[in-house]
Amino acid sequence: MARECSANLCTCCTSFITSTGLVILFLWLTLRTQQPKCFLQSLYLPSLNKTITSNHEHSNNTVIFKLKLINTNKDKGVLYHTVHLTFALLLDANTTRPLANTTLEAFYQGHGRTTQKWSSAEAHGGGVNSTVNGTVFLRVDFATRVNYKIMLFYSKRHRLSGGANVEVNVSSGEKLDPKGIRLGSEAAPLRLRWIALSTFLVSLCFYMTY
Ligand SMILES: *[C@@H]1O[C@H](CO)[C@@H](O)[C@H](O)[C@H]1NC(C)=O
Ligand SMILES: *[C@@H]1O[C@H](CO)[C@@H](O)[C@H](O)[C@H]1NC(C)=O
Ligand SMILES: *[C@@H]1O[C@H](CO)[C@@H](O)[C@H](O)[C@H]1NC(C)=O
Ligand SMILES: *[C@@H]1O[C@H](CO)[C@@H](O)[C@H](O)[C@H]1NC(C)=O
Ligand SMILES: *[C@@H]1O[C@H](CO)[C@@H](O)[C@H](O)[C@H]1NC(C)=O
Ligand SMILES: *[C@@H]1O[C@H](CO)[C@@H](O)[C@H](O)[C@H]1NC(C)=O
Ligand SMILES: *[C@@H]1O[C@H](CO)[C@@H](O)[C@H](O)[C@H]1NC(C)=O
Repeated sequence: MARECSANLCTCCTSFITSTGLVILFLWLTLRTQQPKCFLQSLYLPSLNKTITSNHEHSNNTVIFKLKLINTNKDKGVLYHTVHLTFALLLDANTTRPLANTTLEAFYQGHGRTTQKWSSAEAHGGGVNSTVNGTVFLRVDFATRVNYKIMLFYSKRHRLSGGANVEVNVSSGEKLDPKGIRLGSEAAPLRLRWIALSTFLVSLCFYMTY
């Protein structure tokens, strides 16, 4: 074995470097994770429902909403820590007033799963009492921390957060856009870093092999 190796030192060296490169690539493919996606599926402000208010019922400043979380990792679970949600009212293009906040309990999500959660938040202090351009806009933000479950092990904690401005129908109190609204996350820079790293590893493999 040793004699063969000294005879073909170059080949031996090359195959060692190639397999090391492949192991690194395999590890990277196994360990890389994608951030879950968060959508605001529905949002309803009973205080804006003209049918209720015209019935002279006492105003209800609750915000009722449905959140959808998608784990796009096909082979990794996600453990969500407490999810913090804040709702603020846009007073103009740049200013908001805090309206309500609430939390969702920690939960685990299997690989490739989608989870939908109904919840509500109680608004304190003046409710939705101002509009921008004749429309009610809410700023909805979420923030949590997640651990990815890779086979039997949990990764370290990662921050996950995002938000969006949501337009509300002033006469029904429902979110104007019936489709889910992505609570944008800071995923892009992370993904760019991964692409840069993988490009680097692949070119390193080629460089060392030839
Ligand atoms: C508004 O209130 C009426 C009366 O309570 C109810 O029937 C209706 O479903 C409400 N609208 C929405 C969008 O929930
Ligand atoms: C407001 O309405 C929601 C849903 O109808 C109800 O669950 C909640 O208890 C109400 N809150 C108040 C303060 O009346
Ligand atoms: C309100 O209208 C003005 C002028 O049409 C526009 O510049 C501004 O972006 C609008 N504000 C919002 C929050 O859409
Ligand atoms: C919002 O901020 C931008 C830039 O800071 C400023 O140009 C604009 O006048 C502000 N708009 C309002 C309504 O305060
Ligand atoms: C959440 O609501 C409580 C009670 O209204 C308030 O004291 C607290 O400051 C709010 N927290 C955030 C982060 O807005
Ligand atoms: C809306 O409510 C807030 C908080 O109570 C108050 O400071 C503000 O003056 C109200 N705005 C209007 C237009 O009533
Ligand atoms: C707002 O809601 C009312 C009552 O449900 C509906 O008639 C109206 O078309 C809605 N407006 C928009 C812009 O969707």
